Amino acid sequence: MAFDYSANMIELAKKHRADVLDKVDFRVCDATDYQQLLNLKQSRPFNKAFANMAIMDISNIEPLFKAVYEMISSNGIFVFATHHPCYTYPNNDYFTTCINKGVAIEGQPVLQNYYHRSISEILNTAFATGFVLDGFYEVPFKNEKTPIIMIIRLHK
Ligand SMILES: C[S@@+](CC[C@H](N)C(=O)[O-])C[C@H]1O[C@@H](n2cnc3c(N)ncnc32)[C@H](O)[C@@H]1O
Repeated sequence: MAFDYSANMIELAKKHRADVLDKVDFRVCDATDYQQLLNLKQSRPFNKAFANMAIMDISNIEPLFKAVYEMISSNGIFVFATHHPCYTYPNNDYFTTCINKGVAIEGQPVLQNYYHRSISEILNTAFATGFVLDGFYEVPFKNEKTPIIMIIRLHK
């Protein structure tokens, strides 16, 4: 199962991974809509959930965390990679949750919203849902000395 709220992204993903269409169910779903997320439920719980570089693009992450917690097995894990907020925050203000306009692809016609959240805000959302943190990685871009991405592993 894989999803995005952009039908275009799902079409591209299907083209790009035509080799796994018989194994992966690609769906359009809004990660801020708890009911839509629960509609992804299968007959058996998921063992693993992964969000690759999407948390910083999602306006409200609470429904996603709650739905993933609800739909994974009792020893399931939820891993996500996202912007490292310590190095990308706007207005010289790390702690205030806000929208940071930015560029994902050079030449894009309009700036897009990045949702800046401190690490404690992200983790406290996870803890309030019931998740436990059991992995934390900081990843620099190529040979740089500053991590621009963080990867967090949670388990139920
Ligand atoms: C940086 S892209 C990453 C895409 C993909 N996960 C990858 O690794 O190539 C972030 C994605 O988050 C999706 N997104 C943003 N808000 C969303 C939401 N509320 N529900 C579902 N997807 C969302 C965007 O459409 C975009 O495709």
